[in-house]
Amino acid sequence: MQPKLPKHIAIVMDGNGRWAKQRHLPRMAGHYEGLKTVKRVVRACAEANIEVLTLFAFSSENWQRPLPEVKGLMGLFLSALQNEVEELHKNNIQMRIVGDCSRFSPELLNSITKAQQLTANNTGLKLIIAADYGGRWDIVQAARKFAQQVEQGKTTADTLTQELFASLLEMADLPEPDLFIRTSGERRISNFMLWQLAYTEFYFTDIFWPDVDSKILADALSFYASRQRRFGHTGEQIEQLANA
Ligand code: FPP
Repeated sequence: MQPKLPKHIAIVMDGNGRWAKQRHLPRMAGHYEGLKTVKRVVRACAEANIEVLTLFAFSSENWQRPLPEVKGLMGLFLSALQNEVEELHKNNIQMRIVGDCSRFSPELLNSITKAQQLTANNTGLKLIIAADYGGRWDIVQAARKFAQQVEQGKTTADTLTQELFASLLEMADLPEPDLFIRTSGERRISNFMLWQLAYTEFYFTDIFWPDVDSKILADALSFYASRQRRFGHTGEQIEQLANA
């Protein structure tokens, strides 16, 4: 039997700065190396037939970093979009950016639009880059959409259900993450996909993001395959359902 595969993997790519510090290099060197890992992991997920890969590239809170690092990261995102999108497209990968993005430069926004348009009809891996993203931001933008519908008289407050609310979130069209991975030894969600991680399996590794290779991904996948997901049921109920 094939091992159970997650449909959607969500990753907090952490440890670029510490990877660089260990080598007495500037923090941006860690981010450049981190981009190489992004390419390796995207390739490995596409090969493993994962449906969705979401990468946390820049959080709503990352704007507070020193200006040279923020500028460096914006430059890195721009060059990655410009240089890598053709390769993604050739590999039938659909790419989407999710986040507020209102503080991005017009040049970066233009590259995002072009990359999304080019890859929109691809049917392979869906690569979601969370940039200027925060789980709380997502929940607030969904709440605002619903409040506007009430204000316009299109609906009333008592129609709100979990399903309706979830449909207003970014990524509502995608399955919720089955597997969450965080590198670098930190064991926090850090405002990533707060709503969607309710039943996700969590995998933590001490390895810094630039050092992540296909073995780490394979370890995370075999951890996932070993988990029994119960969604509030008992273990016996899940076994009965599987044998039915
Ligand atoms: C977290 O490590 C990493 C980031 C905030 C940036 C992630 C960016 C990349 C991996 C490069 C490009 C990615 C794409 C998708 C184009 P950290 O800086 O917080 O590390 P530290 O905790 O060791 O300081």
